[in-house]
Amino acid sequence: MKLLIANWKMAPDTAVEAVRLAKATSIISKKYKKHLSVIACVPYIYLTTVKKAAPALILGAQDVAPGTNVAATGSIGAMMLKGNKVSYAIVGHSECRSSGDTNELVKTKLDRLMEKKLTPILCVGEKTRDDRGWYLSAVKDQVESALAGLARPELKRLVIAYEPVWAIGAGAEREATPDECREMIMFVRKLITDLYDARTAQSMTIVYGGSVSEDNAALFVADGCADGLLVGRVSLDSKRLHKLAHNSIAA
Ligand code: PGA
Repeated sequence: MKLLIANWKMAPDTAVEAVRLAKATSIISKKYKKHLSVIACVPYIYLTTVKKAAPALILGAQDVAPGTNVAATGSIGAMMLKGNKVSYAIVGHSECRSSGDTNELVKTKLDRLMEKKLTPILCVGEKTRDDRGWYLSAVKDQVESALAGLARPELKRLVIAYEPVWAIGAGAEREATPDECREMIMFVRKLITDLYDARTAQSMTIVYGGSVSEDNAALFVADGCADGLLVGRVSLDSKRLHKLAHNSIAA
């Protein structure tokens, strides 16, 4: 079973559009349920509306507060996500890292999710590539700091998303190649083998994200060895998402 994670980011503008998109995403989810587990990571403000409109759709948040103290104006805590039927949450997205989320903060957020038995989607990825492989050490630091102290059973409840920052969003330098994706997924599995063991590393779910579209989805899954895809822009266009889902299972 592959994962298809839709990251709506700061869209759409209205609840009416959110409901429309959620229903369309839910139809895709039902149609491909034998092959794909679709998770919609929607803005906080729409979580409960979307749950009512498309109850079968698995919901994720796009972030979580690092603390449990209610004196945190503007924050949404793991206990609130749990209490509102949200099962997943992204932590460490590059857009959050670029506005201040350090490895330490990402780790704290991940631990909050683990405590409440939510599934963290831990985003990791280098800002730039170089010829000497320094980009590997950036990802190593992100993975090692996030996994510190986690027990083996907790790893089973963790999704890692490899998202090279240079390949994300409308300003992407270029698309990543399936070879670049496979190299990093193998590297992360090796890290986990060294920290835990090979069996644990093999059982981990590692997905790819960054300019994923209906045209390259199959390549990342087949040649890139990704256990699924994290999709930003294309997840807002249900026709394209439908094609992407269809193509990714043809891999
Ligand atoms: P993109 O975003 O698919 O629009 O590149 C992916 C992400 O940031 O998660």
